[in-house]
Parts: sequence; C-alpha cells; structure tokens
Amino acid sequence: MEYRHLGKAGIRVSALSFGSWVTFHNQADVQSAVEMMAAAYDAGVNFFDNAEAYAGGKSEEVMGAAFKQLKWRRGSFLVSTKFYWGLNDGVNENHTLNRKRLIEGINGSLERFQLDYVDLIYCHRPDKTTPIEETVWAMHNIIEWGKALYWGTSEWSAAEIVSAIEIANRHHLHKPVTEQPVYNLFERHRFTREYERVYKEYGYGTTTWSPLASGLLTGKYNAGIPQGSRATLQGYDWLREDLTNKEKIAKVQALEPLAKELGCTLSQLALAWCLKNPYVSTVITGASRVEQVHENMKAVEIAPMLTPEILEQIDSIFGVKQEEED
Ligand SMILES: NC(=O)c1ccc[n+]([C@@H]2O[C@H](COP(=O)([O-])OP(=O)(O)OC[C@H]3O[C@@H](n4cnc5c(N)ncnc54)[C@H](OP(=O)(O)O)[C@@H]3O)[C@@H](O)[C@H]2O)c1
Repeated sequence: MEYRHLGKAGIRVSALSFGSWVTFHNQADVQSAVEMMAAAYDAGVNFFDNAEAYAGGKSEEVMGAAFKQLKWRRGSFLVSTKFYWGLNDGVNENHTLNRKRLIEGINGSLERFQLDYVDLIYCHRPDKTTPIEETVWAMHNIIEWGKALYWGTSEWSAAEIVSAIEIANRHHLHKPVTEQPVYNLFERHRFTREYERVYKEYGYGTTTWSPLASGLLTGKYNAGIPQGSRATLQGYDWLREDLTNKEKIAKVQALEPLAKELGCTLSQLALAWCLKNPYVSTVITGASRVEQVHENMKAVEIAPMLTPEILEQIDSIFGVKQEEED
C-alpha cells in the first residue's frame, strides 16, 4: 500500500481507503463488516470513512462494534464521520452546520462508535444559512476538546473552502485540511478544475468518493441490473437511472479491451485511474462483500501500469479532451 499526506496535514492516509455508505447495516452486518474491514486493513488500509447519516446512525454502530472485535491499536487507523443531514426532524437538527447541532452530533457519533475521539470530522455539505464563521468555531472547539483531531469539508465550493480557511487563519483556529469530493471516470470536472486553487494555494487534501460510480464502472450493470446489487436496494431508486444509462454503459464496455490488455478487472482499472491523480490523497472504496475488497485492493498494483498513452486512450473513451483537463 502507498501512503499519501492528507494535503499539508501531518497525517498520511492509505492511497485506498474504505467507507461504509449504503453497505453497513443495509447490506453488511457486524460480522460482514469485520471481514471486510480486516481484509482492507490487511491490505494496508488505515482510513475508514463513515457519517452520522449513513443508515440513520446504524452505520457508525456497526463500524464501532467491528472496531471492538478487531481490537486494532488505536494509533494504527483513522476513522471519520460527517455532519449535515442530521438524524431528527427538529427545526435546528437537520440540513444544518449550526454550532448546537455539530456539538450534539459529535457526542452522538462517539457514543455510537464507542470511541473517545474520531480522527476526522467533515461538514458533509455546505450550509448556506449558517455563517461559515460559526461552523469554523464549532469545528475548532470540537478539536480543542479532543473529540476529533482534524476537520474537512465535503462538496463545498472552492470559494466556501477558501472562506473557511481564511476565517480560521484570521482567528488562529484549526482550519479545514481536506475536501471529500466525488471523483470517478464520469465525474471529474469539479475535482480537476474548480478545486485546483485549493490544492495549489492552500495545500488542501482530498478523500474522494464513489470511485466506481456506485458500481457502474465495475461493468456489473452492462447486461441489466444484477440481483442484490446497489440498484436493487430499497431507498436507492434514485441511482437506478444512472446505473442503467445506455451512454454510460457503452463507455464502460469500451474500457473492457484496455482492462484485458492490462490483465486487470474493470474495477481495478477505474480505481487505478483515480489513484493516478496526484491531488488525490486517498480513494475511498466501498464494498458489499469481502471478495470485492480483495479485488479492489489490487488496484494499487495497476496504477503504475497506466502510462500517459493509456490515460489518453481512457480520456478519448470518456470524451475528455486534454485541454478540458488542463
Ligand atoms: N461525502 C460524500 O458525500 C460521500 C458520498 C458517497 C460516498 N462517500 C464515501 O465514499 C465511499 C465509497 O463510495 P461508494 O460506496 O459509492 O463507492 P463505489 O466504489 O462507487 O461503489 C461501491 C459499490 O460498488 C459495488 N462494488 C464495489 N466493488 C465491486 C467489485 N469489485 N465488483 C462488483 N461490484 C463492486 C458494491 O455495490 P453492490 O455490491 O451493492 O452492487 C459497492 O458497495 C462511501 O462508503 C463513503 O464512505 C461519501
């Protein structure tokens, strides 16, 4: 496994990490979580991603129970959670980054994880109605109290990120160190263009999500929706249209000869492509079964095989011209 600094922060994250969105509680019980987390850890993964909203808090409970069983040294892994959507309908309790909610949020998460602290907390989305200054102060206080060690943003605009960093700098507060953006062969525009300034000028890190576009890039949807896949799950109907999009599937099919040439699977090729971007600190992988973890972890061996010529071929399949990337 390769380890990369989380932007300018002192900690290093494994280039491939492991997250629990959709899967924990819905598809994986504690035993299955233990199996998958152990497979990831044995492959060198040191970062496990979660959020209070995943499975309404149950995802944190499952991961916490898995940590208990796995008995890993606390210094050997990093765990995160995120706040924004909330768990209740109260007026101050959802779609918000207000101080009250963030502080109640971290206390609830630590209880569900059965941990004294998490390593990273994220603002899961921007909140246009709470002043960024209030959010920055709350995140700073949570860190000062030792309940979290670093903080970051997820799907914030570059302008919002810069504003948070500048507020923190002005008041000598803990500043956010990383963004958690979507990044995969289909969705790269914001990552490569909008955020360039925050990587270059502010040394911001990135922990990227949905590297396989929810499974579409594995090729599993090429011949329809397979039984037990994410597209069949109750509550995830909104993903189905994308996962069965004919144009997207044609692009996935066009990647197949390239994967064959490289002697790897489509999943490994799609993950390896994410790893090639030097602004990616870690690619957060997802899996519903341990076999997927074993397969996906091998992507670190494929990344060095992606030459500039192969990357160009991939770009032409996905209809990206080099000048669009620059
Ligand atoms: N910050 C945010 O807003 C945000 C949003 C989304 C995700 N995330 C984070 O990013 C993590 C990864 O996102 P993601 O789960 O969407 O990642 P993904 O890699 O795009 O999709 C993972 C899913 O694809 C399928 N899959 C994975 N490997 C496979 C393989 N080798 N063969 C066949 N199928 C395979 C599995 O679903 P099935 O087996 O069910 O088909 C798996 O659960 C999440 O767990 C979460 O931590 C963050």
